[in-house]
Amino acid sequence: MCGIVGYVGRQNAVPVLLEGLARLEYRGYDSAGIAVVRNGSLRVHKQAGKVRELAAALPKRLNGQVGIAHTRWATHGVPSDANAHPHLDMSGRIAVVHNGMIEDAAVLRRRLEADGISFSSETDTEVLAQLIALEDCGDLEEAVRRALSKVHGAYGLAVLDANQPDRIVLARNGSPVLIGVGERQMLCASDMAALVRHAQQVVHLEDGEVASVTADSFSTTTLDARPTVKTATSLSAEDADYERGGHEHFMLKEILEQPDAIDATLRGRLDTRFATSRLGGLNLTARELRAFRRVHVIACGSAFYAGLMGAGMLESLARLPASAEPAAEFRYRNPVIEPDTLYVAVSQSGETADTLAAVEEIRRKGGRVLGIVNVPGSSISRAVDGGIYLHAGPEISVASTKAFTCMAVAFALLAVHLGRLRDLGPADGERLIRGLAELPAKAAELLQHQDEIVQAANWISATPSAFYIGRVRGYPVALEGAQKLKEISYIHAEAYPAAELKHGPLALVSPQLPTVAIVPDDELLEKNLASLEQINSRSGPVLAVAHLPLGSLADRVIQVPKSEPELDPILLGLPLQLLAYHAAIALGRDIDQPRNLAKSVTVE
Ligand code: AGP
Repeated sequence: MCGIVGYVGRQNAVPVLLEGLARLEYRGYDSAGIAVVRNGSLRVHKQAGKVRELAAALPKRLNGQVGIAHTRWATHGVPSDANAHPHLDMSGRIAVVHNGMIEDAAVLRRRLEADGISFSSETDTEVLAQLIALEDCGDLEEAVRRALSKVHGAYGLAVLDANQPDRIVLARNGSPVLIGVGERQMLCASDMAALVRHAQQVVHLEDGEVASVTADSFSTTTLDARPTVKTATSLSAEDADYERGGHEHFMLKEILEQPDAIDATLRGRLDTRFATSRLGGLNLTARELRAFRRVHVIACGSAFYAGLMGAGMLESLARLPASAEPAAEFRYRNPVIEPDTLYVAVSQSGETADTLAAVEEIRRKGGRVLGIVNVPGSSISRAVDGGIYLHAGPEISVASTKAFTCMAVAFALLAVHLGRLRDLGPADGERLIRGLAELPAKAAELLQHQDEIVQAANWISATPSAFYIGRVRGYPVALEGAQKLKEISYIHAEAYPAAELKHGPLALVSPQLPTVAIVPDDELLEKNLASLEQINSRSGPVLAVAHLPLGSLADRVIQVPKSEPELDPILLGLPLQLLAYHAAIALGRDIDQPRNLAKSVTVE
């Protein structure tokens, strides 16, 4: 969704800001803009469309040593030049870029209009710019604090004042803002991606903090002007993490990175001596962990499907009743929070608004919540009691692949850990630890052979719709497979528990509707084969993702290396990512930035 970048230093801010915007493109956006201070006045350029179009439209000699820029994903008002950020106050002295949403913007706007203030956009952000200008007291930081005390809502903000051209003022409430500390220059951004090139250290603002950033220093306070103390930490991400590295798309790069990403999630966490996993970040004692009677997972989208997969692992290995629920449902049903339930919030970005709100609801009601999160220092990782970082590296493609897989791996680690504190015997512990250790090599083996998948993808790309089926462990695999196909190829796909077909969807099975079936070689093999027979007898074409060749029961089979039964879903998902990828390629889709979608959904 929206992205912020800012620069104050000794270089020309314009190329740094444009490069930062390009690094934020993956988040999804519909317009972009930039403001720099030059000779005591603001130069602002903004328009609907891509960052490269904005760059091409800028005057050749535009420069300034301080500036802010933004990519916008429309919430208040349509995507247009006028609604693009930065927004200015009526006098054109204050410029604001903003992520989030000001809830009382409409009321405030009416009041300001009644006082003679005129607006040039439909956005909530322009209200902020006007309020900050009205609070002018010669100190931009103080004006921002005063203005923010008058609004309700979520924001990550960067503010420029033409009269104070040595600084950018930042504020955070519910939407991330980072300061990037460089040599005689400072950056700010809503996402690490825009900082890595020019900053060596990073500072995360907390909710309710305001910062004033100059080329050489920064200071932070609370909204009521009490100074806060911040420590800069080294930037963990590297420039190369945000490059395609010779691949045509980030999605393909991230699919192929999975052996290394799984390895990183497992690193230092497999304890062969005690046949368990070592999870240092849970912040819960063995006694506390043993006292939980059930587990409830909350997440959105693919992270929710990983949560379903994880709930299955937890139930079978830790013998704890486990369930998963979309965070947006959970947060609005006034959930009963039980002290003996362990809640687990799952998120790649760590910024998904619904998941974050669900975590806050659990904490407010006294529940204990762990995070399974990829982005270090993200809002969810800071809001939870403890958790497991994926260490999968930045995921740029909107369609989650390596993070999804590593979420499932993290759940397996958690399930083994809880299991070994309860009823899981040492022999099973050893078997699973060995199985986990073998995953990176098996994933690498699987990803080497793409020819059959490319053929299957070309075949499926010619159909308007597909079914995905799986049973018990295979069902979350089917859900995620269908999600991948929908997201990037725009082919309609629905996932069903295999046995549900005969209760309704079988009516649609025909030679024109392919079914992608997840068929592990486990205790449900016979049942899954029976579902394939039902489809065969209605002349429905079948593509199976399976451990065994299935003879005439499937038109095409993509064979996957066998793992331990509880871990099988992790590898069974990989060919479905490639299937969606190659189908989308065949259809000429925008792979990394599919239509209507954003990487990190930071608004409701
Ligand atoms: C995955 O391919 C999707 N783009 C989406 O469903 C995503 O998983 C969801 O929005 C949750 O994101 P998060 O993991 O960053 O919380």
